[in-house]
Amino acid sequence: MQSFGCFLLIVLFTSSVVVTAQPKGYLYDESKVAPYELPDPLVCLDGTKVTDSKAWLKKRRPEVLRLFEDEVYGRSPGKPKAMRFEVVEEGEALGGKATRKQVVIHLGKGKKALAVNLLLYLPQKAKGPAPGFLTINFMGNHSVHADPAIRIPTSWVRNGTGVKNNKATADGRGSRASRWAIDAIIERGYAFATVYYGDIDPDFHDGYENGIHPLFPPKDPKKRKPTDWASIAGWAWGLSRCLDYLETDDAVDAKRIAVMGHSRLGKTSLWAGASDERFALVISNNSGCGGAALSRRKFGETVKRINTSFPHWFCDNYKKYNDKEGDCPVDQHMLIALSAPRPIYVASAVGDRWADPNGEFLSALGAEPVYQLFGHKFGATKQPPVDQPVHGRIGYHVRTGKHDVTPYDWKQYLDFADKHLK
Ligand code: GCU
Repeated sequence: MQSFGCFLLIVLFTSSVVVTAQPKGYLYDESKVAPYELPDPLVCLDGTKVTDSKAWLKKRRPEVLRLFEDEVYGRSPGKPKAMRFEVVEEGEALGGKATRKQVVIHLGKGKKALAVNLLLYLPQKAKGPAPGFLTINFMGNHSVHADPAIRIPTSWVRNGTGVKNNKATADGRGSRASRWAIDAIIERGYAFATVYYGDIDPDFHDGYENGIHPLFPPKDPKKRKPTDWASIAGWAWGLSRCLDYLETDDAVDAKRIAVMGHSRLGKTSLWAGASDERFALVISNNSGCGGAALSRRKFGETVKRINTSFPHWFCDNYKKYNDKEGDCPVDQHMLIALSAPRPIYVASAVGDRWADPNGEFLSALGAEPVYQLFGHKFGATKQPPVDQPVHGRIGYHVRTGKHDVTPYDWKQYLDFADKHLK
């Protein structure tokens, strides 16, 4: 492994730290981060150095993508034959500012076939196919807005507001609306699309018997390989199927779609953007360990902890790196680099120390050499102060507050999208 000198430097996290509850027994003190060496994104497995964008795209990028498949997220199947789209509802919404469309993506055949529900709001003022944000949510499409016409999921949902015995009810309508700036998105002329992650794969470990895994390709879950896809790859693959639908919808410009997710679904949006180059822009909101944050820092959540608490998120090979982050041939700056030269945004929250805000920043910085091959800049050399975003080809901010998605985050994503997608 080559040395990647400047990243040996430990950048001090100088911003005022809001102390929120974070699991005990983990590292939250920047001064105690042990020196580490990051793999160089520009050095190929055969030791040759990448010096231009052509070599990155032809040689190194496929290599890095394969390493992430085999060592981190697992290998996903391609676009399936057994897929069909059904528009099940259409109507006026948001006081006449939008058209609502609900589409069922039917996947697979037989007993285990899945119905994945995609909700779309299309700006009525659009003069042509609209650019848009494709997002993935935790509690059901009906949780993103109080709109009574939104269909309620029938798949497994985590118990919480408006959910009883893992079944969603109408009480959950709009329960997560604060996370989705739908009015602002429509106002700026973008389409808003969202899919419920549990429709694609229920988020608990059942040995990959439910959700998408038994369908593509159909195989015995007991005969899984250590490189087979797990849940994050499944959710990301589901986002690609949503994009397949958007490509067929004339109201949307599928070549200008930003993919966005929060937390475990921020890890998912990063992997979706890395594995599907049709996404024009990629947004990671507070994605942390296994997302934007550098694993080698071992700050906040660690590889071992995530593999233990969520054994179904990553491929089995990833468990080799429990307490051995330095042995992994990739770190998360290389995941960010896989989106190059497309614009990418990494957002942190100062109170979200479990997700290692500075590690999320350093990862974006570590991807910059790849962006530079294409003549693109980040514009930051150290973590910017709280609430002072940097919008280069790579975007970054650390905002005041806790692990969440806020109107402030969306304001940045909209400004960033205006800069790159319009
Ligand atoms: C846990 C987990 C994180 C994850 C988060 C979430 O805190 O440890 O890795 O990002 O859940 O998805 O809400």
